[in-house]
Parts: sequence; structure tokens; C-alpha cells
Amino acid sequence: MKVINIVGARPNFVKIAPLMEAYKAYPDIEPLLVHTGQHYDKKMSESFFDVLGIPTPDIHLGVGSGSHASQTAAIMTAFEPVVLEHKPDVVLVVGDVNSTVACSLVATKLHVPVVHVEAGLRSHDREMPEEINRVVVDAISSMLFVTEQSGLDNLKKEGVADEKVVFTGNVMIDTLLRQKPKLANLTTLEDVGVAPRSYGLLTLHRPSNVDHPETFARILTALEEIQQDIPLLFPMHPRTRKNMESNQFGERIKAMHNLRLLDPLDYLNFMHLMSEAKVVLTDSGGIQEETTQLKVPCITIRENTERPSTCEIGSNQLVGTQTQAILDAYNKVKDGTLPEPQIPPLWDGKAAERIVAALHERFAG
Ligand code: UD1
Repeated sequence: MKVINIVGARPNFVKIAPLMEAYKAYPDIEPLLVHTGQHYDKKMSESFFDVLGIPTPDIHLGVGSGSHASQTAAIMTAFEPVVLEHKPDVVLVVGDVNSTVACSLVATKLHVPVVHVEAGLRSHDREMPEEINRVVVDAISSMLFVTEQSGLDNLKKEGVADEKVVFTGNVMIDTLLRQKPKLANLTTLEDVGVAPRSYGLLTLHRPSNVDHPETFARILTALEEIQQDIPLLFPMHPRTRKNMESNQFGERIKAMHNLRLLDPLDYLNFMHLMSEAKVVLTDSGGIQEETTQLKVPCITIRENTERPSTCEIGSNQLVGTQTQAILDAYNKVKDGTLPEPQIPPLWDGKAAERIVAALHERFAG
């Protein structure tokens, strides 16, 4: 049984690592790893392979950046001959990035079943490029592996047949639990010069925040205030850095003396900073889940989330982008008035094992 596994962008690497490991228990599965090249900087890609022990990709498509249409089309054009040559039994895709949708379309049109890891999540916001990717991939997938209850509910509402859907838990949490013991040996906090629980960790890269000057300005006003209270560490995504260099916000960011700009960090150093933070402020999807697992307070600077369990039972507050709402959420963290968070069902480190077992049962032999 030959499975082609697709990765392209940073969060994909974190999700594929435990799956590549889980395949090893099945000698009759031949996994191939294809990297589309959507992310290509060493700090956005290669460092994750090194730290997480992901095998070197068997095939690298080298596609790089571009508009949505050109990037998606380039991945499709490059991936089609790979499917024709290797004739896989299954193509496995993770998450919701452009690489996920592009390869799913190619495989389905060549009549190769697609299986989607992290299926069913919905922000119900079609202005978000990832939401289009999720809806399309789920509509054409043969098996859908779901991380949380809302995923099951969404797929049911969309009329997906029950036998296609498997509730497996969360592969991103598999990686976190596997790597967590290594954090104690790191000196990340000393290197950056902060003490445990004394600082905030900030990430911002969503186009809806960093590409919209009015929204970005409101967020910066809140950050200006918070950094007067605690240091904020800001590892910057390349998209955000490029924006900052080309607009008026660079000066405002540099003027915040307690906001520390960092380059993108490798997985372990970032997790170390996250696990010891007093608060995490973010617009990422995966970070809402990782902070929930670590029980670290998270403030999500977005209007919606496709991961509602992180708010319903986890440590996440979804606050939108208004200055005062961000500050109110920060004050709740400071005052310690938030309820004790819980960890969602099956976020137990065994999702990849369940996924590979289900794949084997369905497709082997
Ligand atoms: C992509 C995903 C997003 C995910 C994010 C994680 C889509 C539609 N978006 O967004 O869901 O949360 O990855 O990081 O797939 N760039 C570099 N070096 C790199 C990669 C990108 O400099 O290695 C710069 C380029 O200017 C590029 C821009 O970042 O144009 C955006 O990259 P892209 O992959 O298009 O989208 P992300 O914003 O990274």
C-alpha cells in the first residue's frame, strides 16, 4: 500500500511528523513524502525537519510563493506527474493550506482517494483562504480524520456520510506531547532574557490582520499598552516582516521598548517560550490548540475560530480585533479570573496511531 503524504507550509511539518513515525509499525505500507516548497526559508521549513526528525522528502516540488491562484496552480502542475509516476493507493493531506487543496484536487481527478487529517474544522468565514481550502478538501476526500467535536458536527451538517468520518484526536498534539520532555533541557528563556510566567508571546500573520491597516493599527494600540505591563516576545512571520518594512507600522513597532522582535523560531524553542509564557496572543490556528494542551492562557485576535473547543473548554479567549476587547482579555489573565481549562477528548498523543490503523484497515490488501 503506497501512501503519498503532502507537506508544504510550516504547520504541516508539525502534523506530518507523528504520522511518518506511525507508518513504521506497518511494513506493508510504503509512505512517500512530498514537499511542495510552499515554505522554503530554512527557519520556516528545514529546521522543522531537523528538530522533529521528519525524513527528508522523497520529492520536492520547489514551488515557492505566489498569489493564491498561481501558487495553487503551480503545485497542481508539479504534483500531477508525481501521482502518474508513483501510482499511490492513497494521498494523505493535512491541515488547510494551499498545498493541501492543490494536491487533493490533483489526486481526486486522477481517481486516487484523498484522506484529510484535521477535517471538518470551519470558521464559517469564506474571506479566509484556509476556509475555502477546508471546504473543498473535505468535499472531495474519501476519509476524514477529525480532531474535535465541532468537526464531527460540521461534517454531519454538510451531509458527509458517517462511514467516511473518523474521530481520531489531534496529530499536532501528538507532536507536542512527544517533544515536551525535551523542553526542560533548553535555555531559550535565559537566551532571550525573560523569567517564567513574566512575559507574553505574540504571533501575528493572518492577512485579515496584518494586510489591513485599520485592523493592524487597533491591534498595535492594545500591544502598546500590554507591553508597558510585561515584555512581549514577537517571533515574526516573513509575511508580517515584509508588511512592516513597507508600511508606517514599522516605526510604531520599533518604538515599543518592551516588544522584542525575534526571527521565526524552531519548534522546540518556540514551544519552550509558549509553555512558560504568562499569556500568548495570536491569530494562528494551531497555537490555539497547543496553548490549550499546555493550559497556557491564549488570546486569539480574530473574529472567528475554526477550533471552538479551545474556547469552550480550553484556555483560549476569542476576542476579535478591537483594542478594548484585547485589553479586557489581557486583564482577565492578569486578574486570574478565568475558569480552569480542560483538554479536549482524544488529545492524548495517539492520534497518528489511530489514523494509520484506520488507513491500513481501509486500504491495505
Ligand atoms: C500559509 C498558510 C496559512 C498558515 C501559514 C503558516 C495558505 C493559504 N496559508 O500562510 O494557512 O497559517 O502558512 O505559516 O496556504 N514567505 C517567505 N518565506 C517562506 C514562506 C513565505 O518569505 O519560507 C513569505 C513570502 O513573501 C510569501 C508570504 O510569506 O509570499 C506568504 O507565504 P504563503 O505561503 O503564501 O502564506 P502564509 O502567510 O505563510
